Amino acid sequence: PDLEKWIDEVPRPGAAEPTGTKDGQPYYELEMNEFEQKLHSDLPPTTVWGYDGQFPGPTIEAEQGEPIYVRWQNDLPDEHLLPVDTTVHEELIPYDIDGVRTVTHLHGGNVEAASDGKAMGWFTRDFAEKGPKFEKKDYYYVNDQPPATLWYHDHAVGITRLNVYAGLAGFYLLRNDHERELGLPEDEYEIPLVIQDRSIDEDGSLFYPSAVSADRGGDDSHPETSIVPEFYGDVPVVNGKAWPRLSVEPETYRFRLLNGSNSRYYNLELLEYDEATGETGGAGPSFVQVGNDGGLLSEPVEIDGRLEMGVGQRADVAVDFSDYAGETLLLHNDAPSLYRGSVDNSDETKPLSEIVLVDVAESGSAEEPETVPETLTDVPDLRAESVDQHRHLTLATGSDEYGRMKHFLGNREQSSGYALDDPVTEEPELGSTEIWSIANNTAMSHPMHLHLVHFQVLGRESLSDYDSDTDGVDPDALESPEPYELGWNDVVTVDPAEVVHVIVHFGEYEGLFNDQTGEYMWHCHMIEHEDYDMMRPFRVLPADD
Ligand code: C2O
Ligand code: CU
Repeated sequence: PDLEKWIDEVPRPGAAEPTGTKDGQPYYELEMNEFEQKLHSDLPPTTVWGYDGQFPGPTIEAEQGEPIYVRWQNDLPDEHLLPVDTTVHEELIPYDIDGVRTVTHLHGGNVEAASDGKAMGWFTRDFAEKGPKFEKKDYYYVNDQPPATLWYHDHAVGITRLNVYAGLAGFYLLRNDHERELGLPEDEYEIPLVIQDRSIDEDGSLFYPSAVSADRGGDDSHPETSIVPEFYGDVPVVNGKAWPRLSVEPETYRFRLLNGSNSRYYNLELLEYDEATGETGGAGPSFVQVGNDGGLLSEPVEIDGRLEMGVGQRADVAVDFSDYAGETLLLHNDAPSLYRGSVDNSDETKPLSEIVLVDVAESGSAEEPETVPETLTDVPDLRAESVDQHRHLTLATGSDEYGRMKHFLGNREQSSGYALDDPVTEEPELGSTEIWSIANNTAMSHPMHLHLVHFQVLGRESLSDYDSDTDGVDPDALESPEPYELGWNDVVTVDPAEVVHVIVHFGEYEGLFNDQTGEYMWHCHMIEHEDYDMMRPFRVLPADD
């Protein structure tokens, strides 16, 4: 439908409340269910999925050092809301069982393996059916890591793209006293914003394609409900509202930005905007980044230009609107679909360019101006000289038995890629520091994600300069990380024909994070890629001492 833009105000996600305690810790029960929600004033209500009747799900507010328990309850209907392709991982998935498979992963959480919410640990309504890696009903989140913008979302094998698209995602904000004492903008001046793209039919229902186009490997012989290699919606949905407007005061705000889309990249900038003509003008206020996926940066970084966000990435940014009183701004995106990052974007595919209109009021009501301090926290440097293991990993494409395009993860030993259920090949030892070099042999950018850990980006080089037979990296010889890639990350973008080197420590590090062992996942966070078949396990082994 031809929706009028900038009608509805951006809502704030609700707050999750504990329902009791367990072992003296707060205990939450969050129920996944199906309900109707208005995505736009002019649309009939949309049937969506969410947690406790909310899309996006309610925000969990957690405190560093205070563990919580969460029981993720599945109360979804018997039938999926969206077309399920039963050829995806058909040898691993019992498509004939009753009910919808779900499992909730805490993205960015340094959590025990049994509570990670891994793809094969799925369960159906009332835990009637369980996947082979299901371990427990009550997840334990230790919350030992530094304060950060985390999020939770569904991760069920083979249908994550559909479950998340239907609405199964929400914020998890971890805080501590140190962060509060910094005096960053808070309360009404702190706003979580999850950006998603959707396609919506006239009757308000969510549209998700059931067939793959010919140019992406589809033909007569492919199954009728067919996984698509990527999904790009034509409507931006922010905190559950389509093409919304955000009213702010001429003050400094803290935005917890999350790209919660299925496949789409965003390259964001605030531009001056004339609402009457729909024309954009010059640059608006810049993003001052204060935190990344894994928490605060050592000091604020002003992003001069665009902020790139791949699926799953968070950017904790401050924006000072004080010079823009009474003006209208646009949160603008120029990343096209099938994004190729810095390599080449002269693509015919159009970006979803207009995301949120920002209305700056004439005057504010803050008693004191909101500010951003000059230093934020200590971020220790992981040293490339002291690594125990260098892993050479690859991103590759292939095609399946129906001729459909498929993506894989491989390594130096098998660069054409492994399937999800091939034996575990990455087994870091607890206490070790590793370099993971991720080489992209495909034609598009991929946001690569590791569960459990946060890494630091050492830098990039072109594939042609990279020798996967040689271990060790000289960070000085690499292209430096982007300004928005400093600090702790759990997702990194690898552009085509390049190699990204990240350094990661498995286990406690300088008082940060927690010792965890066991099986976790690493994968591309474009969810269509993750489902088919760009996801692999890794296993942290106990220290051998
Ligand atoms: Cu956002 Cu495997 O996760
Ligand atoms: Cu990918």
